[in-house]
Amino acid sequence: MFKSSSQAVPERTDIPRHVAIIMDGNGRWARKRLLPRVAGHRKGVEALRGVIRACGERGIHHLTVFAFSSENWRRPADEVTLLMDLFMRALENEVAKLHENGIRFRVIGDLAPFSDRIRDLIREAEALTANNTLLTFSVAANYGGRWDVLQAVRQLIAAGISADRVDEETLTQYLCLADLPEPDLFIRTGGEQRISNFLLWQLAYTELYFTDALWPDFDNAALDAAIASYQQRERRFGRTSEQIGSPVGRQ
Ligand code: IPE
Ligand code: IPE
Ligand code: MG
Repeated sequence: MFKSSSQAVPERTDIPRHVAIIMDGNGRWARKRLLPRVAGHRKGVEALRGVIRACGERGIHHLTVFAFSSENWRRPADEVTLLMDLFMRALENEVAKLHENGIRFRVIGDLAPFSDRIRDLIREAEALTANNTLLTFSVAANYGGRWDVLQAVRQLIAAGISADRVDEETLTQYLCLADLPEPDLFIRTGGEQRISNFLLWQLAYTELYFTDALWPDFDNAALDAAIASYQQRERRFGRTSEQIGSPVGRQ
């Protein structure tokens, strides 16, 4: 029989355990106000602060956000520099508060191109917050879903694992976020309906939610609307409605 990691049907919970967000629309938020794009990114950090708090309050255990994709290096050099600067400042100023609030902080992605200072701050923040349990907050920075699968394959080969021992479970162990449940709910703000090379493998059975709200405008009410949409979904993981035992015709 075909064996798939999705065969182990996760327990259904009303509140998503793991929410993954593509925080998009900062540039358009700024343009609408005739401000430089970086003003939108700054406002985006504020919105993120609110969403982290709201996730904790709602009993969401894991939040993963896309902050900088492996493709975002293609942006104008000055925007990339400003984004790196903002990332560094956020690491300097926000981590203590995350720790106070019981939040475990991690970064996923290829950290090699970042400055020594940013890499040190990330290492320190991860070590400081490693034992916190209220919420795991993961930031995807220089992350790409294809890179993730590739780095997992490289690790498999380096570990000398033979081809006949490679199955979904083995590969999954080497992916970023291997220790977390797969995202239950994916949110993309900013109106685009695409994955943009975010968590490709991990989103296989995630419920997708797209909203036109620009990321800096994404507030508690917007988060609650996404959660409410999730709660209306019937997650079948390949089975029929009847097998799940929920009312037929439920949306
Ligand atoms: C998302 O907002 C933030 C990053 C990609 C860093 P954008 O900067 O993509 O905003 P838009 O899509 O141009 O409005
Ligand atoms: C995706 O947003 C990456 C982040 C939010 C960090 P983009 O705005 O870069 O996505 P595309 O390129 O328009 O799909
Ligand atoms: Mg964008």
